[in-house]
Amino acid sequence: MRIGIGNDHVAVEMKNEIKAYLESKGYEVVNFGTDSTERANYPVYGEAVANAIVNGEVDLGVLICGTGVGISLAANKVNGIRACVCSEPYSAKLSRQHNNSNIIAFGARVIGIETAKMIVDEWLSAEYEGGRHAVRVEMLADIERRQKEK
Ligand code: RB5
Repeated sequence: MRIGIGNDHVAVEMKNEIKAYLESKGYEVVNFGTDSTERANYPVYGEAVANAIVNGEVDLGVLICGTGVGISLAANKVNGIRACVCSEPYSAKLSRQHNNSNIIAFGARVIGIETAKMIVDEWLSAEYEGGRHAVRVEMLADIERRQKEK
């Protein structure tokens, strides 16, 4: 499994720690984030990881900024992306099981590294359940289709 990771200047340290953590668990991690603490713009990195997913370069994505909000908003502008900001593992797990999230996002200014590790663990070990949830996830894609027609 290949995971794209993206971050802005606020989250360089957490990105490095999560990248190393995921690699230690056997995941291949592709870095789309900044490695500099010079001020940067989160939409650049959210879009880069989102595009990598829809192009098939990576399977899933992890995005980190100060809150996880801005970078997930950027990713969710890309058709086919379901990016969820989670500050605890329960929502992360359910976002995969019910919403088929393909990006998990969190904030380096919001949670600590141990919680971030728990979030990615729960998220990556969960599986999309489909079934009744598939109807709703398909309705999300319908919104994208209607937007394109405008
Ligand atoms: C950067 O100051 C900050 O706005 C950014 O990391 C993020 O929290 C935005 O949502």
